[in-house]
Parts: sequence; C-alpha cells; structure tokens
Amino acid sequence: MERKEISKAVISRLPRYYRYLGELIEEGVERISSNELSSRMKVTASQIRQDLNNFGGFGQQGYGYNVKYLYSEIAKILGIDRQHNVIIIGAGNLGQAIANYTNFERRGFVIRGMFDINPKLIGLVIRGIEIRSVDDLETFIRENNIQIAALTIPKTKAPEIADRLIKAGIKAIWNFAHTDLVVPDDVVVENVHLSESLMRLSYRVCNMQEKTAAHSPDDLILFCCLFCLCSHCHSGPFH
Ligand code: NAI
Repeated sequence: MERKEISKAVISRLPRYYRYLGELIEEGVERISSNELSSRMKVTASQIRQDLNNFGGFGQQGYGYNVKYLYSEIAKILGIDRQHNVIIIGAGNLGQAIANYTNFERRGFVIRGMFDINPKLIGLVIRGIEIRSVDDLETFIRENNIQIAALTIPKTKAPEIADRLIKAGIKAIWNFAHTDLVVPDDVVVENVHLSESLMRLSYRVCNMQEKTAAHSPDDLILFCCLFCLCSHCHSGPFH
C-alpha cells in the first residue's frame, strides 16, 4: 500500500481500532458496519469512516468492513506485520516489568537484550533475556539488528545513552525517562509517562467531583486536594 502522510491524531487512534478488531476476530465476527463499530468503540461512525478513508476506506457501502482484512491492513500501516528487535536500557523495576510482559511479542516486538550498569544485575536472565553490561551496547546493536530501544533509566542518564544509541544506528526510542530527548530528524521518540496519564485522570475526577460538590462540598474537595491539579489545591503532590 502506498504510504501517505497521516495525521498524528489518526495514527494515535489506530491501535485502538486494531485492538477492537482483534476482539471481533476472536468472537468470529467477519463483517462490521461503521455504525456497529461506533457503538462498540464509543467513537462516532463518521469519525471511523473519516479515519479509515485515510487508507482507502477498506469498506463497501452497505456491506460494512471486512474485519480480518481491516485488521491486517491496520497492522501493515502500524508496521506490526513484521518483527521489531527491541532492547531495554535499564534493567530495574520498570525494565524488568516490560521484559516480563509477554504480549509485546505477540505484536512482533521481540526483546533481544537488556542493559544495565549495576554489576549485581549484569548476568541475570529475565524470561530468557540476559542483562548485559551497558559497555556492550554498541556491539550488541550492530550484531543483532536492533531497531527499537526502550529507555528505563534515570532521567539524568537518558540523554547520554540516547546519543550512544543514535550513534549506533537506533532510529526509534521508547522513552520512559522523564526527560524530553533532543534527537535528529531521522530518529523518532515515543514518550510514555504514566504519571502524566494519572494527572489527567486526577484532573478529570476533580472536575467531576467539583460538579457534584455543589451538593456536598467539603468531603469531595478534600478528596481532590489530596491528589490533584484542581483549582482548590495549592500544594498537592504534583506541584
Ligand atoms: P530503577 O532504579 O529500579 O531502575 C533503573 C535502572 O537503570 C537501574 O537498574 C540502574 O542500575 C540502571 N541504570 C542507571 N544508569 C544507567 C545507565 N547509564 N545505563 C544503563 N543502566 C543504567 O528505576 P525504575 O523504577 O525502573 O525507573 C526507571 C526509570 O523509569 C526512571 O527514570 C523512572 O523515573 C522512570 N519511570 C517512568 C515511568 C513512566 O511512566 N514513564 C514509570 C515508572 C518509572
């Protein structure tokens, strides 16, 4: 399929379409209309049609979408119809949690190696993946055709390691360190920040609680302020 420039907003929705379509396949559903998909996904049918039109539609008027076909086309668009070799830099709590999650492999992301500076960790094996010294990083990348590096190290160390990865030919960094990396144009970074997601959740719950607080203000505002960004709060943990 010819690749054209697709907006980030559309790309960010594709994994969700992919997940729902995967569930439909498991349920044995072969065809689905944009209206049915819309009610399952709580996205408007016109949004679905618009999004999928970006890639030539895949659907037929009055006939719906062929679920398997759409699923495999979205996989191609996302590049998960092929294998990606991944390494993890930082074999601490988060690095090991990622290594222990088997589902990434089902999506074609195969974790080939982990790296750390801690001599107590070097040599350990997590789910068949050896933790190596970070001194071996460049050689390992070269010899194992690595495309993606996950950064699960302290933020102060992240820029230096990112530079090394880029010099070694890595073009994709999955960045968990709480810092914005400066990278050349031909390198892509996907930042993952669970705490930002939690703060958005906090904002939403505070907003919701504030509306309800009109009825019983004190308890709810206290709850919000333990945790929040809301207008009542001046010194919560995220400040
Ligand atoms: P941790 O302390 O358990 O693990 C960090 C590991 O990095 C340690 O094993 C350490 O030896 C290693 N390390 C330090 N410098 C290194 C270097 N130059 N090269 C290779 N390895 C090095 O910490 P944890 O909890 O696993 O967190 C790791 C990072 O991820 C931290 O920056 C933390 O703030 C961040 N984090 C981000 C989250 C997110 O949602 N983005 C969620 C949780 C943690």
